[in-house]
Amino acid sequence: MTTARILDGNALSTSVRAKLAERATALKSRGVDPCLAVILVGEDPASSVYVRNKVNACEKAGLRSLRDVYAADTDPAVVFARIAELNADPSVHGILVQLPLPKQFDSDAVLEAISPLKDVDGFHAENVGALMQGKPRFISCTPYGVMEMLKSEKVVMKGAEVVIVGRSNIVGKPMAMLLLQQSATVTICHSQTRDLKSHTLRADILVAAVGKAKMITGDMIKPGATVIDVGINRLPAEQGGKLCGDVDFESAKNVAGLITPVPGGVGPMTITMLLANTIEAAERTLET
Ligand code: GUN
Repeated sequence: MTTARILDGNALSTSVRAKLAERATALKSRGVDPCLAVILVGEDPASSVYVRNKVNACEKAGLRSLRDVYAADTDPAVVFARIAELNADPSVHGILVQLPLPKQFDSDAVLEAISPLKDVDGFHAENVGALMQGKPRFISCTPYGVMEMLKSEKVVMKGAEVVIVGRSNIVGKPMAMLLLQQSATVTICHSQTRDLKSHTLRADILVAAVGKAKMITGDMIKPGATVIDVGINRLPAEQGGKLCGDVDFESAKNVAGLITPVPGGVGPMTITMLLANTIEAAERTLET
């Protein structure tokens, strides 16, 4: 029985964020103070934590941030007006509206209202289209972070069998495009896939992005595979209430060659790439 190497997202984040902080300093010396604006509507506890982490990460890396928090029953027109203001403000380089939004909001319409030049989440249709065409402008942060993790470990992507479990717009679909661009052979599995295990067992790189605790078990993994766990699930109180991924780490680590833990894997890299996108947006304002 082998034990997989751990792909430490905290360690990689620390080194990437140090380089980003240098780029932020360089920008400031040229008169550009990189700034991310974050909008949160409602009191969803998980969203509040994510927003707080994003704002704190900005501060630590020397980026300015604005945080607008609205009550859950806010009229969407108020948020649209704020987005328009931020779009027009040259001192703001990135705009992020935390999802999910309360039900009176048309989330797609909100995402389309953000200037595609400031869409550091990479969710605007124009940016999704650019990624599809192999000319990405902003890559959504979680798939971008996963690509950085794979590159940092020199995981071979060219010709690799990649299986992604999950077809969300935020993770599964952009992840597939990015890996395809690296010449991997990509399969996307989802809730209607027949015999999931027959697919996952073929994967040299397995990406789990479903949101179901421990659904990928060791017997579903090809020996030596790279396993990327995007899930962040909270176990019920009677099981300890801890955070866990979509992968059953205990059984998976005996089969995989390389594996990301939860917490401390993909999560920290997601915020790191948000900072990277914001710096990138700010640097682009200096290009003519
Ligand atoms: N909610 C869950 N993940 C995300 C994300 O990456 N960006 C935003 N804006 N909201 C989210």
